[in-house]
Amino acid sequence: MSAKIQAPRGTFDVLPEQAAARAGLEAAARKVLERAGYGRIETPTFEATELFARGVGESTDVVQKEMYTFDDGGGRSITLRPEVTAPICRAYVEHGMHKSAQPVRLWYLSSCFRHEAPQAGRYRQFWQVGAEAIGSEDPAVDAELVLLLAELLDDLGVGGLRLRISSLGGPDTRAAYREDLQRHLREHADALAPEVRERLELNPLRAWDSSHGGTQAVMATAPRLLDRLDGEDAEHFAEVRALLDGAELDYDIDPTLVRGLDYYTRTVFEFESSALGAQSGVGGGGRYDGLVAALGGPETPGCGWAAGIERMLLAAERPPTAPAPVDLFVAYAAPVHRRAAFRVATEARQAGLGAQLELAGRSLKGQLKQADRVGARFVAILGDDGAALKDMESGEQEDVAAAAIVPGVLRGRGGFGL
Ligand code: HAM
Repeated sequence: MSAKIQAPRGTFDVLPEQAAARAGLEAAARKVLERAGYGRIETPTFEATELFARGVGESTDVVQKEMYTFDDGGGRSITLRPEVTAPICRAYVEHGMHKSAQPVRLWYLSSCFRHEAPQAGRYRQFWQVGAEAIGSEDPAVDAELVLLLAELLDDLGVGGLRLRISSLGGPDTRAAYREDLQRHLREHADALAPEVRERLELNPLRAWDSSHGGTQAVMATAPRLLDRLDGEDAEHFAEVRALLDGAELDYDIDPTLVRGLDYYTRTVFEFESSALGAQSGVGGGGRYDGLVAALGGPETPGCGWAAGIERMLLAAERPPTAPAPVDLFVAYAAPVHRRAAFRVATEARQAGLGAQLELAGRSLKGQLKQADRVGARFVAILGDDGAALKDMESGEQEDVAAAAIVPGVLRGRGGFGL
């Protein structure tokens, strides 16, 4: 016997019983986002590596160690998308979307790929639902985006939520802060975790994320970016907060919140759920006012978020279900009626009904049990004396001609009985 081949580490199959919840989540996201004017966009699974190197940032963990990058066979380096914001900004520039009414509002549900150590809630292929509003620096854009993600998480019953927000200021504030933080870290280099020390020159802000005791002690006395916002940045952040306050959304201002991607400016935010383990981040995002220009487009502000499908489903108290309804189950008393039953099931589907036919040679009793198991609304039973149609909700049963089954279900589907 040949050895079994398994799915690669950190990946998973979506089986039909899980597909229903995912489809339900997609429907919930569509409802929340399209009502707010967001249109669906899909970008390719792979992009030029340069897009992420420039967009997400050379100093980030994502670009440094997590990308699936390979030669496409023609000497071009391509990368499976680790995230979708940079691809969407590329598409914004490529399609001249700056000529449309601003902000351009887009949403997506896309697979992403990151070479991370797999654990509960952390995979190498995962899915994100996300929203991006490009072309406006109005703080209402930031606040509206936060509220839309809060609404989606609330619809799904994601429990134990905490929202953290902060502001990283503009690029100049951030660059000056980076130097001061580096100076502070260098002064206390001996107390830092080795990986923080190694990243000190490339990515000092990540020291805020460290769980190492010595590093945390050093960070307790470190300068904070939030204390140094310039006038306009401080005003922008105050307005975002006022809008969230007006909407009565609870949040914690957390000056230690630095997100792992380089493109952020001003607002950053993250929702965590205590229903998740170590990977508690359900969704997050922020403003990226320099990204479109960094990708060769005009100076254009932008803001958005992404949330992990798998993490949302893990934390959801009311995982959505969207099973295809079975309007009719076609059963038959003996094999001689199989062809007639097949015709009824086909006719039912052509009429737009969800219809299943007995396919496993069960006894009539077994077929009725199966109809119940799949949640069929009606069961047709074909036998020697014609056909019967049973309303599984009311329990009523009526003898009918085979040709009257489909019209009967169509009439009765609204719950009016036979
Ligand atoms: P991110 O925080 O890197 O942001 O990812 C967003 C969400 O994707 C996380 O909160 C988490 O739920 C999920 N996620 C990330 N990595 C994994 C993984 N390895 N396995 C499972 N789920 C994962 C971004 O990607 C930004 N593009 C968000 C954004 C949009 N910022 C502005 N616009």
